[in-house]
Amino acid sequence: MKNIDWSQLGFHYTETDYIVRCEYHNGSWGEPVATHDKTIQLHLSSTCLQYGQEAFEGLKALRGVDGKVRIFRMRENARRMARSAEGLYMAPVPEDLFCRCILLALEKNMDYVPPMGTGATLYFRPLLIGITPRLGVGPGHDFLFAVIPSPIGPYYKGGFNHTTPFIVNRYVDRAAPLGTGQFKVGGNYAASFRATEAAHAQGMSCLFLDSVERRYIDECGAANFFGIKDGVYVTPKSTSILPSITNNSLMQLARDHDIRVEQRPVLVEELADMTECGACGTATVISPISRVIDPDHKRIYEFGDTPGPISTMLYYALLDIQYGKEEDKYEWCTVI
Ligand code: PLP
Ligand code: COI
Repeated sequence: MKNIDWSQLGFHYTETDYIVRCEYHNGSWGEPVATHDKTIQLHLSSTCLQYGQEAFEGLKALRGVDGKVRIFRMRENARRMARSAEGLYMAPVPEDLFCRCILLALEKNMDYVPPMGTGATLYFRPLLIGITPRLGVGPGHDFLFAVIPSPIGPYYKGGFNHTTPFIVNRYVDRAAPLGTGQFKVGGNYAASFRATEAAHAQGMSCLFLDSVERRYIDECGAANFFGIKDGVYVTPKSTSILPSITNNSLMQLARDHDIRVEQRPVLVEELADMTECGACGTATVISPISRVIDPDHKRIYEFGDTPGPISTMLYYALLDIQYGKEEDKYEWCTVI
């Protein structure tokens, strides 16, 4: 195992020994290769640079109580990346090839899987870009798929016990209802930076609303939103949000614990009736929300500085599966 101060890692890039890459030319994918070189030679007219043909993913490997390494819901990430590829008119990476590349990236960087109990994990950032040089507006027909591993710590310092304040934004739309919000593509994130950086400047994260009426909650930063209202797990249904694999897992675990789940449009004002709420995604699993400030409507919704009981139960229920402490009855983990 590498000599890294695992418990001090944040959500930052730390270089590992290998990345994995694979190219698509003349209508078919080549073989994956692992290289020390993390750079590429790219024509400046490539469709990823000119017209934003770029999609990515994020998934994690963890070392469990039995010393085995588990990758969480890899096939779901493969399927979502295929949908993102189709959304941007790129060649989808076949599910099995995607999984082979992840497994190769893990095998080549086994020393970077952090020990259990440090809060750190090995994160994989799969990336798909269009590499055909072209000037005329249109999609390319050559693609590069790469898997970039990095050990990471919690997304927010302090991890689960650190609650985060959010501020409602009605001035920047992250994604349009029939646009690319449901895909994990770089353009969505670039489009969100004006809002997220303004929120960060005020010491908060950004709560995005639906871009038609700006009345319903869409996403919190780069994560899905959920709240507990009358004991029910409520999470937005919207065509402009990313279908989070973490949220999907939490919904299943909530149902398993006899907690009703509602996936429906969620009005901002409903925050007043929620006892706890959080942001959920691969990097954090759950980041409990401390308060939501809505400056336009002059309202502050308070949830406190400690995680709520249902968030806490769901968080540990998911972690226990990821660390192999509890039965993985849905076969979410690939065990190595
Ligand atoms: N929403 C956005 C915009 C994201 O970038 C992410 C992170 O991947 C999520 C939600 C959470 O998705 P997942 O749980 O699959 O990581
Ligand atoms: C997550 O993995 O939870 C994210 O929010 C993804 C982000 C780092 C792009």
